[in-house]
Amino acid sequence: MRKKIVAGNWKMNTTVSEGVALAKAVAEKAEGLNNGVGLIVAPPFTHLVSVAEALKGSKVGLSAQNCADHEKGAYTGEVAVNMLVDAGCAWTILGHSERRQYYGETDEKLVVKVRLALDAGLGVILCVGENLDEREAGRHFDVVKAQVENVLFNFSAEDMKKIVIAYEPVWAIGTGKTATAAQAEEIHAFIRETLAAKFGKELAEETTILYGGSCKPSNAKELFAEKDIDGGLIGGASLKADDFIAIAEAF
Ligand code: PGA
Repeated sequence: MRKKIVAGNWKMNTTVSEGVALAKAVAEKAEGLNNGVGLIVAPPFTHLVSVAEALKGSKVGLSAQNCADHEKGAYTGEVAVNMLVDAGCAWTILGHSERRQYYGETDEKLVVKVRLALDAGLGVILCVGENLDEREAGRHFDVVKAQVENVLFNFSAEDMKKIVIAYEPVWAIGTGKTATAAQAEEIHAFIRETLAAKFGKELAEETTILYGGSCKPSNAKELFAEKDIDGGLIGGASLKADDFIAIAEAF
């Protein structure tokens, strides 16, 4: 049985004290959650140490939103994987569409980052997804396939056990426009087939594939009911503990 996960990507939101309060509220409410869903929160870098402290002894895992593409040294403004581990992270998100779109994150760079993250002992949530033009041109399968192949096909089956994929159609992120459950399922199943062709069916069946893009309490149940959707990467709705937990309860 593959792992079900609901992860909250806080993006560039909250102050440290707000983040700590949010993390504490999530940790507290997570106590009542008994459906086997793994919870993860991904605050900004500046919050990690304090949020790690707030989450101590809870069921909630800590993730970064990005990491540097070098191990250490003269890379002003960057944060290395060993610093993330040291701060208490077990995970990092990589390849979010906002990083690809605004910060020039390429598949080539992601190969380096995923390698560094895995070698440091972090789990990786790798984001893929097409933009609106690509969807309207009917190119969504090709785009997602290329992202999966360009990055993940450089890794071994053993590495893949530490990697979660998040399918996030860019047109659905922060727009209130969710992919329908059928649209999401179609791509999730396709990603699984793509993985199976390279790594074998068993590994593909074991890989957790999350959906992200305007996922909220009112649509999570329908999305998570699909057989290839194993949870969500939640942006806006992860900033309210009640909504975030309600999404996790949707399983
Ligand atoms: P959203 O963001 O839930 O606010 O659409 C999801 C994401 O970008 O991870």
